Amino acid sequence: MINLMLMPCTIDDRTPAPGADELAAGLLAESAWISPKFLYNDLGSKLFEAICELPEYYPTRTEAAIFASHGGAMARASGRGATLIDMGAGNCAKAAALFPLLQPSQYVAVDISADFVRDAVHGLQQRYPHIAMQALGLDFSSELALPASVGAQQRLFFYPGSSIGNFTPDEALAFLQRIHRACGDDGAILIGIDLEKDHAILDAAYDDALGVTGAFNLNILRHANTLLGADFDVRQWRHEGFYNPSLARVEMHLTARSNLTVRWPGGSRRFSEGERIHTENSYKYRQASALDLLRRAGFGQAQVWTDPEQWFAVIYARAGAPA
Ligand code: AVJ
Repeated sequence: MINLMLMPCTIDDRTPAPGADELAAGLLAESAWISPKFLYNDLGSKLFEAICELPEYYPTRTEAAIFASHGGAMARASGRGATLIDMGAGNCAKAAALFPLLQPSQYVAVDISADFVRDAVHGLQQRYPHIAMQALGLDFSSELALPASVGAQQRLFFYPGSSIGNFTPDEALAFLQRIHRACGDDGAILIGIDLEKDHAILDAAYDDALGVTGAFNLNILRHANTLLGADFDVRQWRHEGFYNPSLARVEMHLTARSNLTVRWPGGSRRFSEGERIHTENSYKYRQASALDLLRRAGFGQAQVWTDPEQWFAVIYARAGAPA
């Protein structure tokens, strides 16, 4: 009999968690920053789900209405039997709502929040036993490393929710070029992009009355405490979220309520009262600039669907050259 207690233990608790170096570098930068991908620990993913229920947060609802009205046309454009690759799948609800129309042969849910997406796929597999499914806990923000288990034929990259807005326009172009490369000749992208609109609507969407977005933003400090071993006291920080029209983006920051010092193994940073940590950008596009971005990444034959107020756009574009 093998005694499992005697198996060699490979856990080395001196090894920093993935992301620790990036977190430390951002905190030591002249203008401190934390990447928005660190918003999504288990609680952060749940808080984001709550944000999507807020009356002020129009993107999820508006995009869902576009899918509800035009899902049939999207499915006709893409065809059945695709390998549906869901980038930043979260709870997988958006893709699942399209399964009956798209009828993918394989569903690949990719998310940085590995346990969260694994649970979601597990639940979904019970409802759709005939679709091959896999969950991938991956950070695809700097490279796209899909394992060989992901089907190479008829890939449809699904990137809803305007997550593309977290990238600067240059980063967004590089990201879309990586997706384009992973598409092969017969692949395509189905992407949701938030559009520029009345600034008051944008301000309210990222600084809601209940303070859910504030909790979501502040929770990044708890995640940094876990990953980096930092000693952030959430109560010493205040949420800010507002539209910056000169850069066409919403910005989220955490602002120090007083002079304070944050410490972690191997480093520390002093913050003065009012000094900020930049945690997120959410770029807003015009329809024409969104289409131009896709074209420059190599995509062609684009089709666009929007809501009546033109607050949000869903775009389907093929990787292959026009016939
Ligand atoms: C998931 C990146 C699309 O930018 O609107 C929501 C994240 N941040 N409220 C967005 C978010 C604050 C969201 N994305």
